Amino acid sequence: MEQFIIKGGNPLVGEVDISGAKNAALGILAAAVMTDDTVLIENLPNVRDINVMLEAMSEIGVKVDRISPHAAMICGADICDVSVDYEYIKKIRASYYLLGALLGKYKKAEVPLPGGCNIGSRPIDLHLKGFRALGAEVTIRNGAICARAEHLRGSHIFLDTVSVGATINIMMAASMAEGRTIIENCAREPHVVDVANFLNSMGANIKGAGTDVIRIRGVEKLHNTEYSIIPDQIEAGTFMFAAAATRGDVMVRNVIPKHLEATSAKLIEIGCEVEEFDNAVRVVAPRRLCGTNVKTLPYPGYPTDMQPQIGVTLAIASGTSIVTESIFENRFKYLDELARMGAIAKVEGNTAIITGVDRLTGARISAPDLRAGAALVIAGLAAEGITIVDDIVYIQRGYELFEEKLRSLGAEIRLIHDEKEARRFRLQVG
Ligand code: EPZ
Repeated sequence: MEQFIIKGGNPLVGEVDISGAKNAALGILAAAVMTDDTVLIENLPNVRDINVMLEAMSEIGVKVDRISPHAAMICGADICDVSVDYEYIKKIRASYYLLGALLGKYKKAEVPLPGGCNIGSRPIDLHLKGFRALGAEVTIRNGAICARAEHLRGSHIFLDTVSVGATINIMMAASMAEGRTIIENCAREPHVVDVANFLNSMGANIKGAGTDVIRIRGVEKLHNTEYSIIPDQIEAGTFMFAAAATRGDVMVRNVIPKHLEATSAKLIEIGCEVEEFDNAVRVVAPRRLCGTNVKTLPYPGYPTDMQPQIGVTLAIASGTSIVTESIFENRFKYLDELARMGAIAKVEGNTAIITGVDRLTGARISAPDLRAGAALVIAGLAAEGITIVDDIVYIQRGYELFEEKLRSLGAEIRLIHDEKEARRFRLQVG
């Protein structure tokens, strides 16, 4: 089984390029099937979740031509099946975006119910509420969501909880419904805006994405487009905290600084210098970080996908910090792994109280999920000694060339397959 082996202690220094946003790409790939024309999508991140999504689309008859690791031509003209296979939804929940896309285009779709995952139960009741409001009959049968409609008609939909997935899924279906749809209490994440911009480039009529009210006038047909995915603000933030935790100096390039405002604000609070450029940010860390408090919120608040990264950094900051996770109910599992490295943290409900220690020590740890896995790598980079991270397949879902990008910044990290390679690494790093 593949692992990362890390010798900690090197400050990260240098420049790193950020890939396209995974969570924007997943919605955009689904939306691409809504036209019978061919669509070119560029700046795709070359990560496992994207590859699985493309496989799921091919499986139902979408023509996928991966012209490069970061670009694909998509044509949904010959879709022969509107039922997505369980294999794919099991691998990535976001296959459920095909529900909104296929329902919008064909007025029918069938997608297996996504299960919960490592960070919480993750219901999809709001998605289904939106589809029903648009006039679809939605039933759950044999573990699958079956949605169909004679016609989809615009509606006024209020989301009880701010939900990225529900906002994107309903927006896709409504973009080809008859008449006007208003979605209230929408998610405002950059990737919601990216999916709306993509749909509009195909001829949809969507206004207000990025605010909490999205207004859509349905259209009968969508057409071809060429589109480039926005940079991944979570990958960018992950490298920014890696710079902070290792006392480094890193220029993170190919970003949209506005998308990183909450992350940058927290880095400044803990003592880092953050300098913004047109499409880059530079993070310079102090000798000793200071603790702070943080609460995750929907965008533009501090992102839940950046909670583990600040958590591991606060574990080596001075003082006691409080981290409140208000989005998901089970996103502190990484703290158990961090305790094996010497961190002091206590979880009470959706709050973690973290008491900073001078240093962490390397240990054998396991990635509980995608973002926690990346955060534990940061902990290994900051720790004294050797850390081995298991279950790195989670990390590979959403971070392209993670260890190569870290190595280019001076990290001593290798992807290994067995004990022999671990021994070779230990010999090399001394
Ligand atoms: C998206 O998940 C992201 N995934 C997640 O990133 C991210 O953590 C999350 O948004 C929040 O920003 C993708 O974009 C593929 P939500 P999503 O619907 O859409 C509740 C990563 O690391 N809810 O915004 O599933 C839900 O339980 C992943 O890349 C309902 O109650 O998240 C949660 O408490 C992890 N009913 C809250 O809303 C619903 O129908 C926010 O969830 C839907 C959601």
